[in-house]
Amino acid sequence: MEFQELIRRRYSVREYRPDPVSEEALGRILEAGRLAPTAANRQPFRVVVLETKGRGEALGRVYHRAWFPQAPVVICVAGVPEEAWVRKDGRSHMDVDAAIVMDHMILAATDEGLGTCWIANFDMDAAREVFELRAGEVPLLLTPLGHAADRPAPRQRRGLESLVRRVR
Ligand SMILES: Cc1cc2nc3c(=O)[nH]c(=O)nc-3n(C[C@H](O)[C@H](O)[C@H](O)COP(=O)(O)O)c2cc1C
Repeated sequence: MEFQELIRRRYSVREYRPDPVSEEALGRILEAGRLAPTAANRQPFRVVVLETKGRGEALGRVYHRAWFPQAPVVICVAGVPEEAWVRKDGRSHMDVDAAIVMDHMILAATDEGLGTCWIANFDMDAAREVFELRAGEVPLLLTPLGHAADRPAPRQRRGLESLVRRVR
């Protein structure tokens, strides 16, 4: 897909069909995340791919929306604070790195014709348990991955003039 079209094609999918995601597509999506840039190339993240079948109750404790466990797969991007690059003023870039990894995977999923939705508003403790995170890993971002059953709403975005300033 042409890049500008890809950017326009992605939207937050909040209704999914149960059809499976092929292993080949999943592999390409995970590879896009692996190739994402991270600060100082520290790669302070882990990706957990969870099959939703039979986990409706558990996923409901993570994020209580009927559409959340509808997709066959949910992906969790976890951060590893100990591995993250920290600027000299103390600012860790773990969250920035995790967001880039997730964005690469979400755009790759769009390129595969698959739907996703960024989710940050989840229960941390339930996410640690359900995604079987290990010591030193922090759940940061989730997305379902599957075939969309809804349609995008009209896009609401501010105009460039209120978002961008140029210093010449
Ligand atoms: C970091 C981040 C966290 C988000 N968390 C949630 C969430 O917890 N639940 C949800 O339904 N949407 C969530 N969203 C989706 C946004 O609401 C959505 O991207 C925004 O409204 C623009 O709509 P669009 O994705 O369809 O273009 C999140 C998006 C981002 C980037």
